[in-house]
Amino acid sequence: TLATLTEVLATAAQRKQAVGAFNVFSIEHAEALVAGAEQAGTDVVLQVSQNAVRYHGALRPIGLATLAIAEAAAVRAVVHLDHATERDLVDQAVELGFTSVMFDASALPYQKNVAETAAVVAQCRARGISVEAELGEVGGKDGVHAPGARTRPEEAVSFVAETGVDALAVAVGSSHAMTERTAKLDLDLIAELAAAVPVPLVLHGSSGVADDEIVRAVAAGMTKINIATHLNAVFTDRVRAVLGDNPAMVDSRKYLGPARDAMAAEVARLLTLLAS
Ligand code: G3H
Ligand code: ZN
Repeated sequence: TLATLTEVLATAAQRKQAVGAFNVFSIEHAEALVAGAEQAGTDVVLQVSQNAVRYHGALRPIGLATLAIAEAAAVRAVVHLDHATERDLVDQAVELGFTSVMFDASALPYQKNVAETAAVVAQCRARGISVEAELGEVGGKDGVHAPGARTRPEEAVSFVAETGVDALAVAVGSSHAMTERTAKLDLDLIAELAAAVPVPLVLHGSSGVADDEIVRAVAAGMTKINIATHLNAVFTDRVRAVLGDNPAMVDSRKYLGPARDAMAAEVARLLTLLAS
């Protein structure tokens, strides 16, 4: 069933757990995420990024498919727009029925980030849609790893007060699109931010963070853990293995199906870890 980000984060925060937020590039991914969450018996966030929309050429087909899969889920599933920098895309997600959006103005100067994010909150609040924003840029989206950026707690507190966002992505040492799980997080800063900021915190670029470090980040106060690259690797590794073993295979269902199963199993494992 469809849920808002605010609902699932409230449950996770209350239990000192975190909810997994995973990216959807294809319909098989959305199916795998829901299957994994049903195996684990937990909530899940299905997120479609602005980059994924660019890949498909439009939000509507992948967005509606993801919404239909989430509605049919036996667990609570949030359908979230990830890393939107364009207001027009936020409008489209709101129209389609997304229950949550991330508006990412983190590359802009502080005052501009506040003004643009506050406008999105005003638009979404009336319709019961959750808003995540980012303060202190988490690098790596452009392929350049810059884990050095840090969110300042005092600035995070004013940002949340000035914008009214429901969740805040912060820079604490992770970086997007890492293929090795070697990131070292600033756990003291996570604890400081969690104590000061009144809304749930979001860790982006969690593919580069090892299981035990993720557990420490959740214990320190992270409530939403975003993972894309790592699950993409699990999916693609299985496609590569199946095709390698079967050079004459032509039916795409025969390699996409096993890849979907492999992704679902890893999602179930990760969600169980986050709920422990
Ligand atoms: O918003 C999406 C995430 O931050 C995913 O990052 O691909 O490094 O796991 P990742
Ligand atoms: Zn991200």
